[in-house]
This record gives sequence, C-alpha cells and structure tokens, in this order.
Amino acid sequence: MSLSPDLRLDFPALDQLVGGKPLVYLDNGATTHKPRSVITAMSRFYERDNSNVHRGLHALSMRATDGFEGARARAARFINAAHAAEIVFTRGTTESVNLVAHSWGNANLRAGDVILTTEMEHHSNLVPWQELARRTGATLRYVPVIGSDGEHGLDLDALERLLTPQVKLFAFTHLSNTLGVLNDAAALCAKARAVGALTLIDAAQSIGHEPIDVQALGCDFLAFSGHKMAGPTGIGVLYGKRALLDAMPPYQTGGGMVVSVTYEGATWKPSPERFEAGTPNIADAIGLSAAFDYLDALGRPAISAHDHALAQHACTALSELPGIRVLGPKSGQPRGGLVSFAFAEAHAHDVVTFADQDGIALRGGHHCNQPLMRKFGLPSTTRASFYVYNTEAEIELLVKSMRRILKFFAG
Ligand SMILES: Cc1ncc(COP(=O)(O)O)c(C=O)c1O
Repeated sequence: MSLSPDLRLDFPALDQLVGGKPLVYLDNGATTHKPRSVITAMSRFYERDNSNVHRGLHALSMRATDGFEGARARAARFINAAHAAEIVFTRGTTESVNLVAHSWGNANLRAGDVILTTEMEHHSNLVPWQELARRTGATLRYVPVIGSDGEHGLDLDALERLLTPQVKLFAFTHLSNTLGVLNDAAALCAKARAVGALTLIDAAQSIGHEPIDVQALGCDFLAFSGHKMAGPTGIGVLYGKRALLDAMPPYQTGGGMVVSVTYEGATWKPSPERFEAGTPNIADAIGLSAAFDYLDALGRPAISAHDHALAQHACTALSELPGIRVLGPKSGQPRGGLVSFAFAEAHAHDVVTFADQDGIALRGGHHCNQPLMRKFGLPSTTRASFYVYNTEAEIELLVKSMRRILKFFAG
C-alpha cells in the first residue's frame, strides 16, 4: 500500500508560500511537521483536561493521568516493548542518552571497561559517552566509518575486533543523520550480546520512518524524540529493559519519584516513575500518543517504502550533477529517507540560502557530526530529508534548484 498524496492536507504548516513559492519542506531530519490530530490532541488537553497527574483525586487530574499513562502504554505498543514500565518519558533522544550515561554508566563502569560507539554518531550519542569515560576512567572506542563517496558504512571487520569482553556498552545509531546509512541494528545487537555487552540504539532518525520492534531488535536501551516523528517537541522516550531500569539509580531526584522521604534520606519508586522527577510533560506525551496513532494508521512499512523511494530518487538525480559529492550509500543500496551532499564550489549555508529563495527548506552545516565531517575533510554538507508528505515532484524541484545554484557558482 502506498501513501496517499492527500495526506499533505493533514499538515496545516505545509499550506504556505515561502518567498511567493509553495513551501517544499525537506528538513525533516531536523524536525517534522505535525498533523492536525496531534495539534488537536494537545489543545483538547489544555482546553478540557488540564491538571497535574498522579497525585490528584479529582476528575480532571484523573483524566490527565489516564491520558499520560495511556500515552506510555501507546509508546510501548508502538515499539513492541514487553511492558509500559519500560517506557521512560524524557525531553528527547539527547536526554534519554544522558540518562543512561549518568544513571547506568556512573554505577556500572570503571577503569578497564570499554564503551563502544561509532564514528557516525550525532553529538548526542557521542559527547555523553566521552564524558562518562572521563568520569569513570573507562575507555571510549569508535567503530570506523569506511568507504569512499557514495559508499560509506560501518567497518564490520573492525567491529569484530573491537567487540572484546571488556566492552560493557555498544551505543550506535540506527539511521545516520548525515550519511543516510541504515544500520542492521538487530545484527549489531546480536554481535554485542555475544560478548556480554549491553546495547543502546539511537533511533532519533529511524523512529518515525522504519518499523521498530525492540524485542526483535534485541536491544537493551533505545532512545528517540517525538518531534522527529510527527509529534511535539520537548517529549521523547527512553526504552529500557525492565530489570535494567529497576536496578539503575535515579537520574534526577524530587517529587513524584519517591516512595518515602525523611529528613535523613529517601527511597525510590521503581521504573518508570523513578526517572521522572517533577511534573512531567503531560500535554506533549498526549500529543506524542496521537502521533503514534497517526503513523500506525498510515502503516509503517508504507512510510518506510515511501521515504526510501524518495531518497533513492534524490540520490540518483543529485549524483548525476557535476560538482556535487553525495555521501552515504550509493544509488541502489539501502538508504534511509535522507541525502547529504557537498558542492565543490559552494558552502552549504549558501546552498540553503539559495534554495530558500525557491521555497525549499534544507539544512546545511555539520549536522552535529563534527568529527565525521573532519574525517571527510568537509566543513559542511547540505541535507535533504524526506517524510510522508513529500512527493516525487518536490524532488524534481530540489534538483532544479540545485542546478540553478551550480550554474550561479560556475559563474
Ligand atoms: C541521529 C540523531 N541522534 C540524536 C539526535 C538528537 O535529538 P534531539 O535533539 O531531539 O534530542 C538527533 C537530532 O538531530 C539525531 O539526528
């Protein structure tokens, strides 16, 4: 089943002109637009049910609690977690990774241990591990990215060598936000498990695009953000296996996460409350739940097929333009829904500014991947990233705009 082009009408923000041209929004890797059902779910909460959760016994508080806990159960169903208690609400991927680094990492790592990650990680799944290594004396190692332009991927032979019994955690991205590489997350988790290492998957770029089943993947932790999957900003999820979460100390402390407090100390609730100190982000959790419903109604295999097809089309068409380097897997190889490319003659910020004149929203810069950019000798790339509402016609407009830019810079 393919996606209906009519679904564009579900997204009010798409119906606008930019510089007199219809908006072509290709910056979905940074954040996606929200369907009306998500916006309505959040305003309905504020208009009718607004109240604090868990501690109240009045009607509004009970409705708010039902909405919030319903969102947790919905999140568990979306990723096939075994239990709702395995879903911790956070502000997003970054906070989810930091939670694991501080709570699990501080308690479990020491000098001699190894944290393994990859060279293609977003800073959010890299700096927290650098800091954890610094705090604990553990060593941080990277699985290299190999291949030339249009063929980049993880060095799986190096991974075999790097996965020693000293590795306590392997943290890797499912879908690279810069290369478009879609890693075989189940295979990577199985390799890590074989040496007794835990796994954390950064699913920021994949959650809204690829079917995700944490039990089939076999991961221990998985982190994602609502705003990259048609949901609101300010809400995300840390999935963790229940026994692991219950054995971890709190990340933050305060109201809502304690069983009992005396002037001398406190005892903690089990997961997930243990990790949700203070008033949670109730309205955004309810909006996120509506986003899960929206994506499941479209069908996640159909979303994945749609995004891959657009990325292939863009990759092939852009690769044919002289003076453009396309990063990531080459045309015809599996690629998630984004394409990152560099102009020989133009800086990505100029490219994005020119494209904006054509009504096209792109992203230019280092994409929070500075070490990888440095490795490739690139100051920046331009990235086009696609979602359910994008069309083949928009890819043609992108290519036309890039041709105009090439002509301008060729003088
Ligand atoms: C692969 C990847 N990981 C992590 C993040 C961080 O997500 P957030 O800023 O929503 O916490 C991003 C955001 O672009 C990303 O692309």
